[in-house]
Amino acid sequence: MSLFLREFARTRRDTGAIAPSSPWLAKALTRYVVPTPGSPRAVLEVGPGTGAVTRHVRAALDPLDSLELVEANPRFAALLERRYATDPQVRLRTGQVQQQELGTYDTIVCGLPFANFDATTVEQIFRHLLSALRPAGTLSFFAYSGMRPLRRMFTTGAELGTVLDTQAAVERALDAHQFRRETVLCNIPPAHVHHLAPVPGAAPGALAARNARFGYAG
Ligand SMILES: C[S@@+](CC[C@H](N)C(=O)[O-])C[C@H]1O[C@@H](n2cnc3c(N)ncnc32)[C@H](O)[C@@H]1O
Repeated sequence: MSLFLREFARTRRDTGAIAPSSPWLAKALTRYVVPTPGSPRAVLEVGPGTGAVTRHVRAALDPLDSLELVEANPRFAALLERRYATDPQVRLRTGQVQQQELGTYDTIVCGLPFANFDATTVEQIFRHLLSALRPAGTLSFFAYSGMRPLRRMFTTGAELGTVLDTQAAVERALDAHQFRRETVLCNIPPAHVHHLAPVPGAAPGALAARNARFGYAG
């Protein structure tokens, strides 16, 4: 059994997936990890797991760029520690991201299973990550598509209230900060990738400029 599946069986809530992200999902998540020649960029990846997305982030770095990884599961962290121990551009922290004192970043890529957290934790983590972004920075995360109505359908009693509160907390973050959404079909299961900017309701002109800079016309 793969380490990922074993950890899903052990800590289903925190692992939040039965398989690592596909290369297509990793590509969409790392869309805004774009080197800027001559100016070093700082990238943060939260919840790297077994490193399926990390490989794409690392491959996109210039020699002066840096990558910080924050992973709560010590078994995943040990695997990443072995893989990146001799890489001077990668630094790993083991622990929950909401407990970490973060630096400031140009790009944050987040693999956390927000749908499994309570609303207070979701709000705390979004606040923490968005406030760690530099002014033109971006935060990209994913959610499995079609799961929201399914969760509501198959949850009852007091737990339904928790699910609805969590979904509302994610929605509020998207309403205030999302500037682009992508759908990735080639993943198990298919997923939406959400790209957020730190400034709530950023001027449409600023978002158009950001999208043009990254070659996105939408
Ligand atoms: C859905 S997996 C994503 C793994 C990997 N990014 C991928 O896409 O294949 C979620 C990851 O987030 C980690 N995680 C969960 N809660 C966390 C927290 N509060 N802080 C940091 N990592 C966390 C889990 O241990 C797991 O590695």
